[in-house]
Amino acid sequence: MIGRLNHIAIAVPDLAAAARKYRDMLGASVSAPQALPEHGVTVVFVDTGNTKVELLEPLGTDSPIAKFLEKNPDGGMHHMCFEVEDIADAARLLQAQGARVLGDGQPKIGAHGLPVLFLHPKDFDGVLIELEERAL
Ligand code: CO
Repeated sequence: MIGRLNHIAIAVPDLAAAARKYRDMLGASVSAPQALPEHGVTVVFVDTGNTKVELLEPLGTDSPIAKFLEKNPDGGMHHMCFEVEDIADAARLLQAQGARVLGDGQPKIGAHGLPVLFLHPKDFDGVLIELEERAL
């Protein structure tokens, strides 16, 4: 069902500082910051060739990242994202096998303008999994 690893997401307390580290210390190509108010985050993408690293900073008062950073004040790995061909189909198959889709269970439009959903970390060995619909 899953295809390529699209990105690994790291929650960071200071996006500008994190973006500088990846660009200046690690010599990576880093995108401009993108505010995603419907997801409560501001993101930059670090292009590593075979995949991407998504750096996430809380945006707004009700950010899902804020709680994570309370527990992990230095930041930390937040989720990983796999590509799927048909997200509605994937959601149905996973739910039929007992996996929990977060929120109302419906895909939302994610950072790349494509439908995404999140799977409960307790169902995947403590890791939050994002699925993104993309032609494989
Ligand atoms: Co993501």
